[in-house]
Amino acid sequence: MTVPPPIVAPSILAADFARLAEEVRAIEDAADWLHVDVMDNHFVPNLTIGLPVVQSLRAVTAMPFDVHLMIEDPRRWAPGYADAGAYNVTFHAEASDDPVALAKDLRSAGAKAGLAIDRDTPIEPYLDLLPSFDTLLIMTIKAGFGGQRFIPQLLEKVRTARQHVSAGHLELRIEVDGGIAADTIEQAAAAGADAFVAGTAVYGAADPAEAVRHLRALAERAAPGA
Ligand code: DX5
Ligand code: ZN
Repeated sequence: MTVPPPIVAPSILAADFARLAEEVRAIEDAADWLHVDVMDNHFVPNLTIGLPVVQSLRAVTAMPFDVHLMIEDPRRWAPGYADAGAYNVTFHAEASDDPVALAKDLRSAGAKAGLAIDRDTPIEPYLDLLPSFDTLLIMTIKAGFGGQRFIPQLLEKVRTARQHVSAGHLELRIEVDGGIAADTIEQAAAAGADAFVAGTAVYGAADPAEAVRHLRALAERAAPGA
């Protein structure tokens, strides 16, 4: 089984919100995507940032934005992020009654479409929907806060998804989010993930760009078939 070269996506949730443009510049040459966590204080208890911040950031960097919507009613809000120039817009399976329809909306708005699966949600009911998506984000924590401890048991969902993607020859990134760091990224890569969100492990490091490069090297080495 071979997987595409790994993508590393630093999460600005762990950055200094008073210096966001600088914090993005610190990693833009080293990282692949910028992961933007949007939380609405309803789907998750936490409240972060929304569309105006994404629009302002869009103007200061050419990096692809990987927008992770932890919000209710994504059908109403998600296309706005595609219109704002997000590369990929991911919404939660638990928040959507028609994920395929919203994926179509996002693709017609010019973005890639992502489906996120939270800690307590099984992957099996969603496997047949994957041809409608470009990314599958499997939470390796419970969505809502940065800085939580990685839950290795959740990699079973990554293994299931990777098998399904390989067997069906699907073009789909399998992304993991939550607690990804130098001591956990290899097991996630070995399970078949090929996109890695890292907040604390990047922005908590003395040299965030170097942290990104180190994470990518570890993921490359641990990938199946590497
Ligand atoms: C949490 C967010 C994550 C968060 C990850 O719900 O989806 O993207 O920023 O942070 P770390 O890498 O610190 O676990
Ligand atoms: Zn996230």
